[in-house]
Amino acid sequence: MNQLDLFSHITGAYASASDGELTNDALYRAVADRAGIDIGAMNATVPIGKARTQRSPIKRAVRWYQQDLRAMGVIEKVPDARGVWRLTEEAGRKLKRSQSSVKMVAFSTKLGVAIWGSNQDVYPHLGQPIMLALTSPPYPLRCARAYGNVNEQEYVDFVVRSLEPIVKNLAPEGSIVLNVSQDIFMSRSPARSTYNERLVLAICDRLGLHLMDRFVWHNASKPPGPIQWASKERVQVNVAYEPVYWFAADPLRVNADNRRVLQPHSARHAALIARGGEQRQAVFGDGAYRINPGSFGNPTAGAIPRNVLAFGHQCADSAAHRRRARDLGFATHGAPFPHSIPNFFIRFLTEVGQLVVDMFGGTLKTGLAAERLGRRWMVTENILDYIRPSAELFRQFPGFEINPGFEEVRGAG
Ligand SMILES: C[S@@+](CC[C@H](N)C(=O)[O-])C[C@H]1O[C@@H](n2cnc3c(N)ncnc32)[C@H](O)[C@@H]1O
Repeated sequence: MNQLDLFSHITGAYASASDGELTNDALYRAVADRAGIDIGAMNATVPIGKARTQRSPIKRAVRWYQQDLRAMGVIEKVPDARGVWRLTEEAGRKLKRSQSSVKMVAFSTKLGVAIWGSNQDVYPHLGQPIMLALTSPPYPLRCARAYGNVNEQEYVDFVVRSLEPIVKNLAPEGSIVLNVSQDIFMSRSPARSTYNERLVLAICDRLGLHLMDRFVWHNASKPPGPIQWASKERVQVNVAYEPVYWFAADPLRVNADNRRVLQPHSARHAALIARGGEQRQAVFGDGAYRINPGSFGNPTAGAIPRNVLAFGHQCADSAAHRRRARDLGFATHGAPFPHSIPNFFIRFLTEVGQLVVDMFGGTLKTGLAAERLGRRWMVTENILDYIRPSAELFRQFPGFEINPGFEEVRGAG
């Protein structure tokens, strides 16, 4: 049983207990039951520590995790009752109190866990190798979104701080992918901020990561803008892309494989392959490129994608999230990315079973794509309005469990 499973089994055991209270013995039985472990295996002891005392390693792991959950404010000791623990008020019994310090498992599946809370409080406790952290932090917008934005001066430090616990847990083959905006303008000026350049340098210099690529997310359906400088003053053109930066812990070991993201050949290329490739002989670029008879004729499994990703921002999952949010009385999310973004990077940079995280979860697209692709996942989102409706998008997946307190919570309407 891995730590992620333990995390959700233990929190789930407290959430399902009447009053959320459990003695440790009852907790061991509930965890064994949830994890499908035989109670005999749970009780089996081995010599542990210098004193070689006989102890159960599974029970010991449960108690360690119990301490982590206590440190995270998810569970607390019941006063005057020895060895009895319960969910804290913030973590299950009064969910409507949406405080920034709340940290709780909102829901989980066999593959992943969604945590309502601030990423800074969660990832330092992870203790598992992350193969991919894929996220879109709040942008340094002048006109803030409802969930709040950091200003441009503080932005680089804010993102670096959010990445620190991730980098600590990043697998040597792991990657970090960041979708940000390059449409941040200087005050009263059509000149763009150079924060993107500062951000990339800070991530490489301060966190020791390596820049692998600056992907362009070409979104042809972006609304026209910047209104002031393109539509009114006419000194800029409309924007159509956002950068997506890809960083690796170690470029020579990175777990990237473009064969996992091959695209169908164009009709023209398929016809070329069918003809047996080029029929001509030609030289281009002062000898840098040559075409010989037969070139490009090998049948291949697909085309290697280019680093311009043409994805519209509309997606069925965003629409479903909006519907669920309205049904439950919550605010809708103002800046989701489409499922196609995490779907591409998760396939490109991870394999089945590896761990994908998103520290700024929003509508939980990263979790959703990871779940569909058979990757393990952990997502944090600190706004209840966004994470509660997301749970509805995961109900059909194996092992879905929702914290009963979280399930009941509704928005103001
Ligand atoms: C740009 S949105 C991410 C949208 C997401 N990619 C999606 O597709 O829905 C940034 C999100 O980060 C959340 N957020 C901001 N600070 C956070 C923190 N410290 N911990 C967890 N989430 C945070 C915001 O509430 C917001 O939903």
